Amino acid sequence: MAYSPAIGGYMYKVGDQFQITIEKMANRGKGLGRINDQVVFVPYSAPQDVLMVKATKVSKNFIDAEIVEIVKGSELRVKPACVYFSECGGCHFQHLAYSTQVTIKDQLVKETLSRALGPIDEKVFLSPIASPLEWNYRNRIQVHIENNQVGFNKRNSNTIVPIENCKIAEPALNKALTELKNTDAVKNAEKIELLIDKNLQVHQRDLNSQGQPVMFSQVNRFANQLLVDSVVEKVVRFQPKAKVYDFYSGDGNFLAAISKKLPKNEIVGIELNPGLVRLGRKEIAEQKLNANYVQSSVENYLETVSLNATDTVLLDPPRTGCDPKAMFVLGSSARKKVVYISCEPTTLARDLRLLKETAVKWGLSLRLETVQTLDMFPQTEHVETVVEFSIDKIDTHTTTH
Ligand SMILES: C[S@@+](CC[C@H](N)C(=O)[O-])C[C@H]1O[C@@H](n2cnc3c(N)ncnc32)[C@H](O)[C@@H]1O
Repeated sequence: MAYSPAIGGYMYKVGDQFQITIEKMANRGKGLGRINDQVVFVPYSAPQDVLMVKATKVSKNFIDAEIVEIVKGSELRVKPACVYFSECGGCHFQHLAYSTQVTIKDQLVKETLSRALGPIDEKVFLSPIASPLEWNYRNRIQVHIENNQVGFNKRNSNTIVPIENCKIAEPALNKALTELKNTDAVKNAEKIELLIDKNLQVHQRDLNSQGQPVMFSQVNRFANQLLVDSVVEKVVRFQPKAKVYDFYSGDGNFLAAISKKLPKNEIVGIELNPGLVRLGRKEIAEQKLNANYVQSSVENYLETVSLNATDTVLLDPPRTGCDPKAMFVLGSSARKKVVYISCEPTTLARDLRLLKETAVKWGLSLRLETVQTLDMFPQTEHVETVVEFSIDKIDTHTTTH
């Protein structure tokens, strides 16, 4: 490290080592510390850790670093349950007790939303919902095969960590993993997906010869039930008199549950993936639901159809969030009930900010009613967030959130 009079600070380079204290957790599962006022992000760290770290990437605004030595470990640390932890890239938080993980993720969502939208009334935030299972919850894993060895990729790398067992996968998948090792697939395939379907049947898919899976399904069926209950409760409490639009509806995870509770309301699912639309339509026919599907992108659909202010809107986009065009349309007219379900707080915050700015331009305001995190992904950095809001005429409420 060298002092630079030009920038009035120290210039660090990859490989430099220094001691820092982790102040808090930041997004992407990394702890945040500082060296001479420069922000340093460190994976597998915990708040209050005193660490000797080594810079792995130096950017203009921050440094990425890895732990060389834990000088004084945080009291929040626990012994990770899995022998592959920190080598395998799948889990980020096994060194923290599960209750701490839930609290940290909840706090991060609050900070991320407040940064994007300005101060938010504490009353808006509901208590976080934990996953019913901390371990053995995942119903889908993708394993890589190299030199007859089966494993997961290392963090930020294509090299594999051979594994015997994955502690976050459901037991049936670990059984299938053991069986896989004794089949010819290990000689021929490079990447295999093991998946448990809704009927609890295990499937194996060669991702190189059969292609990447194009179908979305929730990875934690135990937490998913709580997510569906929470979304249905929010919609039913609103007592909708008009249509319910389930945007990014997948195969009808929310649509079917809402339709059963509200048989008089027409539920419309909008989903891009034709395979999921087919599955959704099959379920509607079999269960005789008052619902229908449109196969379209949400952004194109919203440009051609006008929604009423009293129609309920659900948004459950992929991790990349919604197309800005969809936010422009939804933010430009009054809307009584929107429920946004997100698996990525940063894109959620970006979309809500765009909605808020659009609403203001049209003389409206974004009013957050509730924000609730739900932990669908224990031991990892990921979190699900459910936000309930309305777009109001500006004179009906005095605050914007
Ligand atoms: C996070 S998943 C949610 C699926 C469903 N709500 C569930 O809970 O299973 C997002 C879904 O959005 C679909 N999708 C992605 N981009 C889309 C777009 N632009 N318009 C409509 N659907 C899209 C994906 O195919 C996927 O099914």
